[in-house]
Amino acid sequence: MNKNTNLTIRKFDAIIVGAGGAGLRAAIQLSESGLKTAVISKVFPTRSHTVAAQGGVAASLGNSEEDSWQWHMYDTVKGSDWLGDQDAIEFMCRKANEVVVELEHYGMPFDRLDNGKIYQRPFGGHMSNFGEKPVRRACAAADRTGHAMLHAMYQRNVKANTQFFVEWMALDLVRDGEGQVLGVTAMEMETGEVVMFQAKATLFATGGAGRIYYSSTNAFINTGDGLGMAARAGIPLEDMEFWQFHPTGVAGAGVLITEGVRGEGGILRNSAGERFMERYAPNAKDLASRDVVSRAMATEIKEGRGCGPNKDYLLLDLTHLDPKTIMQRLPGIRDISIQFAGSDPIKEPIPVVPTAHYMMGGIPTNYHGQVVLSMDGRHDVVVPGFYAAGECACASVHGANRLGTNSLLDLLVFGKSAGEAMVEDIKAMPTAHRELAQGAFDKTLARLSRLESQKSGANVHEVGLAMRRVMQDHCGVFRFPDMLAQGVARIIEVEQQVRVTEVKDKSQVFNTARLEALELDNLIEVAKATMVSAEARRESRGAQAREDYPGRDDANWLKHTLWYRDGSRLDYKPVQMKPLSVDSIELKTRVY
Ligand code: FUM
Repeated sequence: MNKNTNLTIRKFDAIIVGAGGAGLRAAIQLSESGLKTAVISKVFPTRSHTVAAQGGVAASLGNSEEDSWQWHMYDTVKGSDWLGDQDAIEFMCRKANEVVVELEHYGMPFDRLDNGKIYQRPFGGHMSNFGEKPVRRACAAADRTGHAMLHAMYQRNVKANTQFFVEWMALDLVRDGEGQVLGVTAMEMETGEVVMFQAKATLFATGGAGRIYYSSTNAFINTGDGLGMAARAGIPLEDMEFWQFHPTGVAGAGVLITEGVRGEGGILRNSAGERFMERYAPNAKDLASRDVVSRAMATEIKEGRGCGPNKDYLLLDLTHLDPKTIMQRLPGIRDISIQFAGSDPIKEPIPVVPTAHYMMGGIPTNYHGQVVLSMDGRHDVVVPGFYAAGECACASVHGANRLGTNSLLDLLVFGKSAGEAMVEDIKAMPTAHRELAQGAFDKTLARLSRLESQKSGANVHEVGLAMRRVMQDHCGVFRFPDMLAQGVARIIEVEQQVRVTEVKDKSQVFNTARLEALELDNLIEVAKATMVSAEARRESRGAQAREDYPGRDDANWLKHTLWYRDGSRLDYKPVQMKPLSVDSIELKTRVY
């Protein structure tokens, strides 16, 4: 117990919030180094959203054809529309083979080639010889790669004695007067008990926030908790205008159909049966990068070549593939298509639309996973004791558009590097934990008491729905100046409603209404950061496609956005164009 409050305090060397791929990979590093490590998660670890990653993890193993990390690096910089930091991108692409082989040694059941090596398939934007033709770089376990990955890493953590706090929700980051991060407050979901988890090093690996959109491939747990907590603690959010719309969500349901389908030879067609990607990306066609394919699809629909009675979706055609390929390499998407679209892809095409999928921005970090508050000349100014990895972090390796399969790679590489940095930093610290300041839990207690005391407030579900509608209508695949300006005004109105939401049934046994309200506090920060950052960036780059500024503007906008919650203020910082050991990949027009 703390003398100032009645909160129980639990002490660890390291706290990790989130048990998806990044959290589990970091935890292996910490626990295997003998440090007392706790992982806090809203769901059982193997149900984290990494489970939904289907098609593969990128690594230039070259098992089926020649490949190299330099080609992978080039593709990633080009995919990012040159907004990615080239030092972090080199770091990630060079480490890819190492982290995938480690995973193999943890017991990950990758598909195999006849010679026993890991099976690799092509994926959008991954090319050989600096953009020449698609290359097989995605290491796959059928179309359940993320699922297999979570199981392999969870088991490794159990062996290493990582302590899991399952069905706990982190509430607020706790910092001391010097800005050092001391851990988080968290609530046990079943009982509502609130505890302080104190640590010498705290990692956020809380995943994405796709639930800011009405239609999303994301799980209901993806509520941007890490970003909300960071923003409330004074940390800026980077490049939040860049949201990826995955080309193939099941129309009307949003469930992901992996890009691996196109990697295995699937083709997108319009209502005339035309393979329209030949017009938009003559070289890579259906395997162009996601922003390019999603824009092409939105254009086909806008120009009246969509399918169905409302002409509002396109078709993903696999009917020309050998049914054995579908059964062996894509069994999961066949199930999804039958269940959510009512069509068996062996016999008929799948109806698909671009669907909100991935947040390229996040909590700013360097490639060691340390959270960076600002740049001081050439030096990062890190927030002591605070680290972030995976989708909630912005290293930034994805820039304005992420390549498929680079997300699983990102969480392995930066989960590991953050874990390594934490081990090193913790070992250099005194044995005793730092003192918790007076009032350390005030922010959490005030939020909880607001929810308890609010009378006749707004309904959490309705306010959440209003936010999702605003984001869907005002900040989608194509962005329009008047819609963005209205979007900023409307999201501020929604924010006012969030501040007065009421938990109607305060006696609910499992606290679900209370938890939804707490999640909405986080979602609204992400939604506002996204809308304000998108409205301010007057160019088109990667996933930000503005009608009024159709071109990329390197002279004025080759820079990262930083959004600060306080005053919804924006600042900018330079893109790191200098890699670690090779020449810069110079700016060029991006064509596929
Ligand atoms: O299409 C997919 O399998 C998704 C992969 C990713 O987002 O990296």
